[in-house]
Amino acid sequence: MRFDIITIFPEMFGNVFSVGVLKKALDRNLIEVKVHNLRDFASDKHKQVDDRPFGGKPGMVLKPEPIFSAVENIRENEATPVYLLSPQGRTFNSSFAEELASHRQIVFICGRYEGVDERVVEYLVTDEISIGDYVLTGGEPAAVVLIDAVSRFIPEVVGKTESVRSDSFIESVLAFPQYTRPRDFRGKKVPDVLFSGDHKKIEDWRKKKSLEKTRLKRPDLLDQKTK
Ligand code: ADE
Repeated sequence: MRFDIITIFPEMFGNVFSVGVLKKALDRNLIEVKVHNLRDFASDKHKQVDDRPFGGKPGMVLKPEPIFSAVENIRENEATPVYLLSPQGRTFNSSFAEELASHRQIVFICGRYEGVDERVVEYLVTDEISIGDYVLTGGEPAAVVLIDAVSRFIPEVVGKTESVRSDSFIESVLAFPQYTRPRDFRGKKVPDVLFSGDHKKIEDWRKKKSLEKTRLKRPDLLDQKTK
């Protein structure tokens, strides 16, 4: 699977994909990430990518031509979805991530400044994606979040597919608590059941804890489940 990022700040992506699970996935060619400088697709001699908004208003707006040109150059074919990262988009979540993982290529356009020419939204992109109800200075951090979350659904990226499936949210409940050594840390003890050797009992305890945690911290997830 290939991710293409269109940005005016390619340097922001520095080393984010050079560590951990994503680095391994890149080394094993399970994923490919290409960062493209929007400026390289500007046709005028000043390589201008933004301009003042019509109708007047402070700030600058990303011009349509370089973005259309970038997408037309980068997209392998019409089946490749193109997403604009913006706070006005569809809110990203785990099932959306799984859905995106079925594509061969995805193009992300990182919005910037006060906005992007509306013709990009109307005539170019498949959809807009937001990673939450807050405003970032640009879509770049959102692109990293998306690539990380989507990559986990690509077969073999995460050690055992099993662990992706049993993660928080996939089953609409939060993860059960986990412990490691020491068994007694400053008088705070690991629950005895985990040393019982009784797998059924441990599994039941984990399910119970998952539900308790969800009821306490994210009751909205349980409401969704019963809808
Ligand atoms: N760009 C600015 N804010 C954003 C958000 N919340 N999600 C995605 N892209 C953004």
